Amino acid sequence: MDEDYDVIVLGTGLTECVLSGLLSVDGKKVLHLDRNDYYGAESASLNMTQLYEKFRPGKEVPTTLGRDRDWNIDLIPKFMMANGEIVRFLTHTDVTRYLEFKQIAGSFVVYSKGTKVSKVPSNEVEALSSPLMGIFEKRRMKKFLEWAQKYNDADPSTHQGLNISVLPMHEVFKQFGLAPDTQEFIGHAMALHLDDSYLNEPARDTVEKVRLYAASVLRYGKSPYIYPLYGLGDLPQAFARLSAVYGGTYMLNTDAQELVYDDQGKVTGVKTAEGIARAKQVICDPSYVSSKVKKVGSVVRAICLLNHPIPGTGDADSVQIVIPQNQIGRKHDVYVACVSGAHMVCPKDYYLAIVSTIVETDKPAEMEIQEGLKLLGPIVDKFVSVSPLEVPIEDGTKDQVFISRSYDATSHFETVCDDVHDLWKRITGEPLVLKKKEGQEEAA
Ligand SMILES: *[C@@H]1O[C@H](CO)[C@@H](O)[C@H](O)[C@H]1NC(C)=O
Repeated sequence: MDEDYDVIVLGTGLTECVLSGLLSVDGKKVLHLDRNDYYGAESASLNMTQLYEKFRPGKEVPTTLGRDRDWNIDLIPKFMMANGEIVRFLTHTDVTRYLEFKQIAGSFVVYSKGTKVSKVPSNEVEALSSPLMGIFEKRRMKKFLEWAQKYNDADPSTHQGLNISVLPMHEVFKQFGLAPDTQEFIGHAMALHLDDSYLNEPARDTVEKVRLYAASVLRYGKSPYIYPLYGLGDLPQAFARLSAVYGGTYMLNTDAQELVYDDQGKVTGVKTAEGIARAKQVICDPSYVSSKVKKVGSVVRAICLLNHPIPGTGDADSVQIVIPQNQIGRKHDVYVACVSGAHMVCPKDYYLAIVSTIVETDKPAEMEIQEGLKLLGPIVDKFVSVSPLEVPIEDGTKDQVFISRSYDATSHFETVCDDVHDLWKRITGEPLVLKKKEGQEEAA
């Protein structure tokens, strides 16, 4: 404990673990602490006994739910884009050697004012057979996808007169004559935007995200998403093993009693029951520094146990379903993430579906997600929680305490990766560029 470290990381949530891994690989000496006796913090995977302790303390787990060790229930499930940033982080740090992934079988979107579920078409061919659009709209969608796919900065003949560096996305949609519903599933189920502000931003970001979606689907077919066997809880443990390789240390059951500062207000270490660990920088989740964060909203999540696949998804063993805000008269999308025994997260024949969104009203939180719950069919049991969405008040450069954001309602990793990039830049003063390592296959 009385050693000196470059960085001390508090909390073993997904963001903290990815950063701690990237810093280790970059040659930093990292100490990683967590007050809990399990890995993962807010984003832990729990067995059934732990889930009951959290949601129904004092209540017995029904014996009908089978063996404890068959359950690995993510409190915050997130899927990875096969070609996405998170996979590049995992490949770069080489934690992939401790993990095994399985594809998510389907990516769906709700349309027709919340009444119907359809696969998200990922390419021109799928667009032509999609029930999401009428015959003429299908052709316009096909043209848009072809254009997005072929767009090449160096070759103006592929631009069709549209400059994506300057033209706002709503102008691009207009150029292709796409209807509001089509725009919405492109923006929310393919590009995964959280709200409609992207419409007024230059089209580049959305075009790149649509291309990422299509390329990720191409990689494995069916959906763009993959997910680790045994749940996301295996990620922090993989990072802990990696850390050991780089001379770092992970310690559970070790709380940070307080942060220690010098007289300039810069952090110098962390006080624990075992003494003071010294470091020039501290990275933590909001729960370790309540006075340095502010609440900007709340997320409601319902963990639902099912004994059948979600209706309308072709009996898929796993899916993501996005319910775009405008389809159901909301200001935030509702997300459904479903995994099953096929991913070793629950006993065979069970399905775990998590429905989440940002809280918008004072009504009981479950009302906010009812459009998602409605899609699931009969529910065996349901565990509902509301968590604050917290963000750091300052960027951390003054006191060298760098705080992550709470996990939002999305069921994919894109916003977590944005936070990792943002934190990296604040911590090191440089943008995060993943260098190719000797002898390593390039992470595409
Ligand atoms: C697109 O706009 C940017 C920014 O104004 C400009 O630098 C670039 O040359 C334009 N590209 C084309 C092909 O006109």
